[in-house]
Amino acid sequence: MELPSDALGGQGRLRQAPESFLSHELVTAISSDGVNSERRGLLRGALAAALVATSARAIAGDGGDPDIVRLPEWSRSLGKPVASNPYGQPSIYEANIVRRQSPGLTQTDQASVAFTPLQNLFGSITPSGLHFERHHQGWVDIDPRRHRLMINGLVAQPLVFTLEDLLRMPSVSRMHFLECGANTAQEWGNSAVPTVQYSHGMLSGSEWTGVPLSLLLERAGYDRTAAYLLAEGADGSSMTRTISMESALEDALVAYGQNGEMLRPEQGYPLRLVVPGLQGVSWVKWLRRLEVGDKPYATKDEASHYVDLMPNGQLRQYAAIQEAKSVITAPSGGQKLLKHGYYCITGLAWSGRGAVRKVEISVDGGRNWREARLEGSPQSKMLTRFNFDWVWQGESALLQSRVHDSTGYIQPQRAQLVAARGTRSIYHNNAIQTWRVGETGEVDNVQVG
Ligand code: MTE
Repeated sequence: MELPSDALGGQGRLRQAPESFLSHELVTAISSDGVNSERRGLLRGALAAALVATSARAIAGDGGDPDIVRLPEWSRSLGKPVASNPYGQPSIYEANIVRRQSPGLTQTDQASVAFTPLQNLFGSITPSGLHFERHHQGWVDIDPRRHRLMINGLVAQPLVFTLEDLLRMPSVSRMHFLECGANTAQEWGNSAVPTVQYSHGMLSGSEWTGVPLSLLLERAGYDRTAAYLLAEGADGSSMTRTISMESALEDALVAYGQNGEMLRPEQGYPLRLVVPGLQGVSWVKWLRRLEVGDKPYATKDEASHYVDLMPNGQLRQYAAIQEAKSVITAPSGGQKLLKHGYYCITGLAWSGRGAVRKVEISVDGGRNWREARLEGSPQSKMLTRFNFDWVWQGESALLQSRVHDSTGYIQPQRAQLVAARGTRSIYHNNAIQTWRVGETGEVDNVQVG
């Protein structure tokens, strides 16, 4: 597939070792992970050498960096006034870090998807402006004064809420990932897409704020024998999804907040359903109605779409939970390792059934595994950032990550997943991803197993 020259967007920005990596603690920490003493010595030596090679240049003299002593114009003039920037924007030098539409997918004006640039992000929160977008009929910016949410069906008292009503109710804020069930869809076939933005970028993590759905259902007096809900959006796509009452009562929110501010219109302003751990399509945006019912609704978006074609030719319906998955975001497809030496292999891991317990990294296509460092304390149904120290000396390598979640589930190799699911699905591909590093440092997407 020929790609437009800007389609790889922002690739090749690999993280170099910060000065703190020179600390003795780190060198010791990574060498106490089970490698034998001879290898450990080699590794320590290689890592120390790599770190020296990436450390800062001398201040002056031959080979020194003259830019530290030359005063640039911004150090010799007044800065811009605060009034020029009432809502902050990224630096103009980051203009390439944007959501992108995949050149490999059919584009239509309204039914569309734009992918998050995972390769350029840090930590586990996705900036709201880079949250992936998936709309079945375009996005709308709804006047909140005219928006209503109704709860009806098997309830003692049907209720209608305004945004004001909801803002006055008890609220909670929680961090959760949102992943489209079709994320990584192209990897079912042989068409390995070039970058992690397009292979895994229907994935984002946010802090969501809203009213627990259980509280709203209580207020309406829901029938205790009811097992399902129908969630309906206010956009032109007539998006309707069946949600199990179990998920609704466990940890679902009717959310109005995202990362400390109101939802973005693309994410469902002013109200969206947050159903942690479930596939993205269940997170109905521009939420206008919740109907309590006693059976699944088999709506258009769950009868023919978002079903899995199994090897025996049958369709699997209502498989809504996103199983544990991880991906290395750097080095990743389309990037290039420019120098030999130290690299921080970094990526994201998540599970729709709980928290991330452990992430392992292989640099030889799954033959040997070593444990990565997890950032912070992994939260349930939220992205967890992992890091792994690696010294690259020009050899070809097959980089993989594998997550274990709090239920004991281990992310499958591609061959294991294909044995159970075949290759004719679109949805729910959580196989281990492989990036091949060639001897020239080029990184590309390959399918192993
Ligand atoms: N809700 C409505 N009303 N309309 C939609 O098109 N798209 C769904 C879901 N909720 C959709 C919707 C799909 S398929 C996904 S993956 C998620 O929203 C995407 O959420 P995002 O655009 O905030 O990333």
